[in-house]
Amino acid sequence: KPVVLSGIQPTGGMTIGNYVGAINQWLNLQEDHESFFMLVDLHAITVRQDPQALRDRVLDGIALYTACGIDPEKSALFVQSQVPEHAQLAWVLNCYAQMGELNRMTQFKDKSSKHANNVNVGLFAYPVLQAADILLYQADQVPVGEDQKQHLELTRDIATRFNNLYGDVFKIPEPYIPELGARVMSLQDPLKKMSKSDDNPNSFIMLLDEPKKIEKKLKKAVTDSDEQARIYFDRNEKPGVSNLLTLLSVATKRSIEQLVPEYADKMYGHLKKDTAEAVVAMIEPIQARFKVIREDQTLLDNIMKQGAEKASARAEQTLKAVYDAVGFIPRP
Ligand code: TYM
Repeated sequence: KPVVLSGIQPTGGMTIGNYVGAINQWLNLQEDHESFFMLVDLHAITVRQDPQALRDRVLDGIALYTACGIDPEKSALFVQSQVPEHAQLAWVLNCYAQMGELNRMTQFKDKSSKHANNVNVGLFAYPVLQAADILLYQADQVPVGEDQKQHLELTRDIATRFNNLYGDVFKIPEPYIPELGARVMSLQDPLKKMSKSDDNPNSFIMLLDEPKKIEKKLKKAVTDSDEQARIYFDRNEKPGVSNLLTLLSVATKRSIEQLVPEYADKMYGHLKKDTAEAVVAMIEPIQARFKVIREDQTLLDNIMKQGAEKASARAEQTLKAVYDAVGFIPRP
C-alpha cells in the first residue's frame, strides 16, 4: 500500500481551514493507504507554549482527529515527541540543509517577524524537522493545504541531495493538495488565509466553536461588493463568495457546479445562511463525539500507545538506514 503522512500543530485548536485543507483529505486516504497522522508537539515549541496548555492541546488533538473519523485501527495516530526518531533524523538532516534555502521559507519569514523577540534556532530549522517527519515513513504522499507546498519542495530537495550522496535511502514524496479547499480564506478579509493566530476571532471558525458562534461568524462574513451581487465561483473576482461556496461544498459534499445554479437569483444572505446551517450540521456530530472521547483518558492513552508503536516500527528502520549511510557505528 502507498504511504501517506501528515501533521498538525497542537496549538490553540483547529480551524475549519485545517479540517478542509487537511483532515478531510486524510479521511479518504486512510481507506486505501498506510497512514500516519500526528500532532507535532516538537514543532509547537518553536514558539513559547505553556506546558499544561500544550498537554491539553495534544489530548484535544487526539480526541478531535478521532472524532473527525480518523480510525486508530486503520491509521497510526500519534504524538511526534513520543517517537524519538523524529528528533534524531532532524539532526542528521540539519547537516544536509543549507542556511540559504531555509532563509527563503515564507513561513519562517512570517513567524520571525511575528515573534521578533524569539527568533530561535528551532524556528529556523522547523522545515528540516518537517522533512524528517515525512522521510522517516518513506511517505509517497503528503496531504496538506497550499501553505505547506514550499516545505514539501524543500523536503524533496533535501531527500534528493541525500540520495545522491548515499544511494536510495529516501523515497521522494509528493504533495497531495486538494483542488477545492487547499486555501480556506479569512471570513473578514478573503484575500488572506484563514488562520487561528489572526487577531480578529470573527475571521476564523474553530472546530470546537459553539454552533451559535459559527452562525454569527458566517453571517458576518465579508462578501464582495460589486455592482451586481451575483453568486458565482471565481477566486479572483469573488474571493468572499467563493470562500463561502467552498465551505458549503465541503459541508454538503456537493460540487460547486451543482451548487452555483441554485443561487442564480438568490442573495448573499441566502448563501450565508445555508453555509452556516451546513457547516453546523457537519461540525455538531464531531463536537458530540469529541466530548465523549476527550473524557476517556484510557481510550486516549490506548490510541497514543498503539499509534506510537506503529509509527516506531517504520521510523526505526529508516533511521537505521540513515545512520548506516552516514557512517555511524551501531551500539554494540
Ligand atoms: P499547521 O498546523 O499550520 O496546519 C495543519 C494543516 O492545515 C492546513 N491549513 C489550511 N488548509 C486550508 N486552508 C487554510 N486556511 C489552512 N490553514 C491550515 C495546512 O496546510 C496543514 O496541512 N508545518 C505543518 C505541520 C507539519 C506537517 C509535517 C505537515 C509538521 N510536520 C509533516 C505535513 C507533514 C503546519 O504548520 O501545519
